[in-house]
Amino acid sequence: MKSEFNIVVLPGDGIGIEVIDATLAVLESLQKRHGFQLRYDLRPGGANEYKTTGTAFPDSSMRASEDADAILLGAMGWPEIRYPDGTEIAPQLDLRVQLELYAGVRPIRAIPGLPLPLISSRAPEIDFVIVRESTEGWFHARGRGKPGRSFDDDEAVHDTCEITRKGCVRLFDFSFKLAESRKKRNPNKGKVTCIDKSNVFLGMAFMNQIFHERAKLFPGVTADHCYIDSYCLNLIRKPWDFDVCPMENQFGDITSDLGAGLIGGMGYAPSADIGDKHAVFQPSHGTAPDIAGKGLANPIATILSAAMMLEWLGERHGTSMLLEAAQSLQDAVDQAISEDGIRPADVGGPHGTAAVTRAVISAL
Ligand SMILES: NC(=O)c1ccc[n+]([C@@H]2O[C@H](COP(=O)([O-])OP(=O)(O)OC[C@H]3O[C@@H](n4cnc5c(N)ncnc54)[C@H](O)[C@@H]3O)[C@@H](O)[C@H]2O)c1
Repeated sequence: MKSEFNIVVLPGDGIGIEVIDATLAVLESLQKRHGFQLRYDLRPGGANEYKTTGTAFPDSSMRASEDADAILLGAMGWPEIRYPDGTEIAPQLDLRVQLELYAGVRPIRAIPGLPLPLISSRAPEIDFVIVRESTEGWFHARGRGKPGRSFDDDEAVHDTCEITRKGCVRLFDFSFKLAESRKKRNPNKGKVTCIDKSNVFLGMAFMNQIFHERAKLFPGVTADHCYIDSYCLNLIRKPWDFDVCPMENQFGDITSDLGAGLIGGMGYAPSADIGDKHAVFQPSHGTAPDIAGKGLANPIATILSAAMMLEWLGERHGTSMLLEAAQSLQDAVDQAISEDGIRPADVGGPHGTAAVTRAVISAL
């Protein structure tokens, strides 16, 4: 049974570096207990790398990422550091396209005991997954402007949205399989809701048609549909009704933040960008320039992303000790919040990065 894994670590910029430091400390403690070994290969990439060297993501970082068993990423980008066309440095987006990481898996799960913004007795039931298509959609327009110029001309700009059959099939099949496995763990789950704007855009109507074609192959899962605007309404009114929600790239980008807001903030929202051969695990949040360097970054989203990495590696390699370690890690986060009274600064509590990290290690 494989028990040693090569992990490329890309801390990136801002709080990305802080939450990765915290997560590596937690993983250190976890490996000792569960008998597996992660070999880290720290690589540069991000806005400050671009500022210093003129290259956002060195070829050596790309090659190491391609060869790794998995990639753990902090966050990249800095609002004041930009390409000549005016857009931000975002190698994490390039990685998704280059490694074909089509499924951006963003679990939105209320951690027991954490104060939540929705005043409803059902708020603690929030447990759904946004599956953000991550290789096409409106993000297809990235970097397609004329070299060295910000806009097509001074009168109009056209950002195009690409929807392909291949992209839809793999997104929906992934989502239906995810719903099947969630239903095995919890019989109340097992629903896939396609989120789109098929009442207006041709590409979305195409996407919706493919969703219903693929749904027929998964009869054990309920196939549902919701327009993106109505989805935003229902995320506030009854988010506990959703299970697995696949959608176009930009819609997934935006609603991930709304989902994170429902469970306390960006500090609680993990993510995994999964393809057929590679996967990147990173928090849903960015580099948080407003709190970077202050010791306030909440590492929970990154720690839970590391738990997703262990689960993915465990399933891929049939390594049960990794599956157990992933569950222990999630349980330790829950215990730190629900039993040990940890309240991170982003929910108005007194605990910064170091205190949250210590609490999770001690709960392990
Ligand atoms: N995947 C990524 O690497 C990624 C994702 C989003 C944004 N970005 C980049 O990050 C930079 C900042 O973007 P932004 O401000 O829109 O989004 P952000 O996610 O960095 O921050 C949004 C808000 O959430 C808070 N926040 C985020 N993570 C937190 C954490 N772990 N603990 C406590 N509070 C946290 C921030 O303080 C801020 O108030 C930009 O350069 C952007 O391009 C990168």
